[in-house]
Amino acid sequence: MGRHVLVVGGQGGIGRALVEALRHDEAVDAVHATWHHQAPAPLDGVTWWQVDVTDEASIQSLAEGIETLDWLINAVGWLHGHGAGPEKHSREISRDQFLRAMEVNALPSLLLAKHFRPHLKRSSAGVFAVISARLGSIGENRIGGWYSYRASKAALNMALRTLAVEWRRELPSAAVAALHPGTTDTPLSKPFQARVPAGQLFSPETTAAYLLDVIAQLAPEHSGRFWSFDGDSLPW
Ligand SMILES: NC(=O)c1ccc[n+]([C@@H]2O[C@H](COP(=O)([O-])OP(=O)(O)OC[C@H]3O[C@@H](n4cnc5c(N)ncnc54)[C@H](OP(=O)(O)O)[C@@H]3O)[C@@H](O)[C@H]2O)c1
Repeated sequence: MGRHVLVVGGQGGIGRALVEALRHDEAVDAVHATWHHQAPAPLDGVTWWQVDVTDEASIQSLAEGIETLDWLINAVGWLHGHGAGPEKHSREISRDQFLRAMEVNALPSLLLAKHFRPHLKRSSAGVFAVISARLGSIGENRIGGWYSYRASKAALNMALRTLAVEWRRELPSAAVAALHPGTTDTPLSKPFQARVPAGQLFSPETTAAYLLDVIAQLAPEHSGRFWSFDGDSLPW
């Protein structure tokens, strides 16, 4: 029997490329994907759900609608919009921007874990994978800036690490992973692409292929780690 997979944020740049790759994967029996503002056209092999990850009731009804799940991949994220962008200096910090980053980038993965725990417990090889960002690594932060985004991804990483500790005992067949996708050509990175060195801006399809390779290698003994797209382990 093939895997049942859910991509949260399936209409985003990376999320949509994950959905496309998974629906053509012979090891996958069912693809569920969520959208937020932009309703997708019907896509063969994909069941779409409208979900706002900042609304726990929306996550709960998604979990109630899906019976079987092996892999949950959260590809939702927020960096800029509504007049806000990453802060270059502490003078630019605003409460609204900080809380928005936390609300979209950090908390939803914990709510997804809460509501999909029973599904992943039933799976013989469950995976809970979230797209984080290398910028959330405290150990690697040498250039500063981007306070809200960095803090929200560091909070996400800590949440995933803590979840992995809990699930090691309670869901011994599952693996929890934080993933760094590499700089990818999507609306999220668009305003910041000018300084990306040649060859280091991936298409969403390339990133999806890398990430799915990493996810396919995950086993319970790897749970609670932070992975780069190329399979390297990153410092927290
Ligand atoms: N692109 C990069 O270079 C890069 C690098 C490092 C890490 N990442 C991470 O990779 C992940 C995917 O990013 P991306 O580049 O694919 O960005 P993207 O194209 O902007 O996609 C982000 C998706 O998140 C969805 N979303 C935002 N708020 C939501 C909410 N409240 N409920 C449900 N969905 C919501 C957006 O839907 P709506 O637009 O409809 O709200 C959008 O589809 C993010 O976690 C990002 O931080 C990206």
